[in-house]
Amino acid sequence: MSTAVQSIEAGVKQILTKYPKAGRDALIPILQDIQEQQGFLSREAVVTVGKELDLPASKIYGVATFYNQFRFTPQGKYHIQVCRGTACHVKGSLAVLDAVKRELKIEPGETTRDGLFSLEVVACIGACGLAPVMNIDGNFHANLTSQAIPSVLKQYQKQAK
Ligand code: FES
Repeated sequence: MSTAVQSIEAGVKQILTKYPKAGRDALIPILQDIQEQQGFLSREAVVTVGKELDLPASKIYGVATFYNQFRFTPQGKYHIQVCRGTACHVKGSLAVLDAVKRELKIEPGETTRDGLFSLEVVACIGACGLAPVMNIDGNFHANLTSQAIPSVLKQYQKQAK
């Protein structure tokens, strides 16, 4: 067993101490805590939760994949949050999201193969006056259009070199 796996297990077990006698109903908050602590839900984390709660891993995946908020791969070097709140929606955030997906060839919850970008869809991030907006590692990109996406992403690709 590798150290990484042990530390994932240890982290999960530590979280589970907050949920004594937890059952299926506590699954979502437990998974949220694990994601907050570890950045994503690894196979090892899911298996550990399954053992502790006496639930098959397939059941846990079934529940977790139902919710957009969970990721099953580590975040990329740059984490992209595309806002799909109402103001951004009205100003065309769906086209922005489609452009990001097309450009990076990933879906929300995924990470590019080179590990550079991960993508998440979020609700209002409090910058409605700048709609449609996306947040990349704390930098807000405002008044976006689908045409602007390739050059925005290129800035980060250059920065990473
Ligand atoms: S709806 Fe997108 S920032 Fe508020």
